[in-house]
Amino acid sequence: MNKSFLKQTFLYGLLSDYRAWKAGNALRLINVYPLELAEIIKDYRYSITKDYRTVMQVLNIESCIKHVKDNNIDGAFVETGTWTGGASAYALLSMKRNNICLTYWGFDSFEGMPDPTSDDDSQSISWAGDDPRKLNNADREACYTYLSETGYEVSKINLIKGWFDESLVMHKSKVGPIAILRLDGDFYESTKVPLLELYPQVVNGGIVIIDDYGTFEGCKKAIDEIVLGQDILYAENGVRYFVKKSN
Ligand SMILES: C[S@@+](CC[C@H](N)C(=O)[O-])C[C@H]1O[C@@H](n2cnc3c(N)ncnc32)[C@H](O)[C@@H]1O
Repeated sequence: MNKSFLKQTFLYGLLSDYRAWKAGNALRLINVYPLELAEIIKDYRYSITKDYRTVMQVLNIESCIKHVKDNNIDGAFVETGTWTGGASAYALLSMKRNNICLTYWGFDSFEGMPDPTSDDDSQSISWAGDDPRKLNNADREACYTYLSETGYEVSKINLIKGWFDESLVMHKSKVGPIAILRLDGDFYESTKVPLLELYPQVVNGGIVIIDDYGTFEGCKKAIDEIVLGQDILYAENGVRYFVKKSN
């Protein structure tokens, strides 16, 4: 039985329910956003119907969206590396619930991962194996449908297929100022290129989320080389984030 078939089965639905139930217990224990608990769990559940994510990943997105709203930070929400769309779907649901409607831009090859380079660690290189295109391979149309089914205003959803070194250069002027930049490309070059192309567009007071700072050494290296003078905060094992302040 292959993985994509498994995801369409009753069993996968049960697994998502179980994860959402566990997330609910964790949220009750840490007592964050108690008034929105039921809705956050519902949105978390939607975000894991395609793939796995942790409750701390979505809480980090939630708090960044609230920061942007509370501080009237204007700009787009951008994710580089959408894959099947789970984190982005959560962001759209959270923005809807928080009554803000930032323009959304998602970027992905939709052809799997690029080759790692010598700036990536041996674990990433062995994970990539002989054919990195087979890893994290997702379908753009399925991802777009999944994002639109959140009910977010479709005219605000932009989902771009292509390798970052071409797609970001081509679209960055249309993206304009960025309120939240979520970097989730895993590897050194897949973090460095979005940083070089998009970081200058992140407004002061806007937020950069780095999904893999604690997971992939190449990702951390790219951040440490380019992001200087910012207070990088811990969100969970892998995830870090910072509020951009002018240097
Ligand atoms: C870990 S997945 C993203 C997970 C997603 N953000 C989520 O939370 O479910 C990494 C994605 O980055 C994409 N990616 C990595 N490097 C890329 C590059 N250089 N150009 C385009 N896409 C890239 C891969 O195709 C993959 O879908």
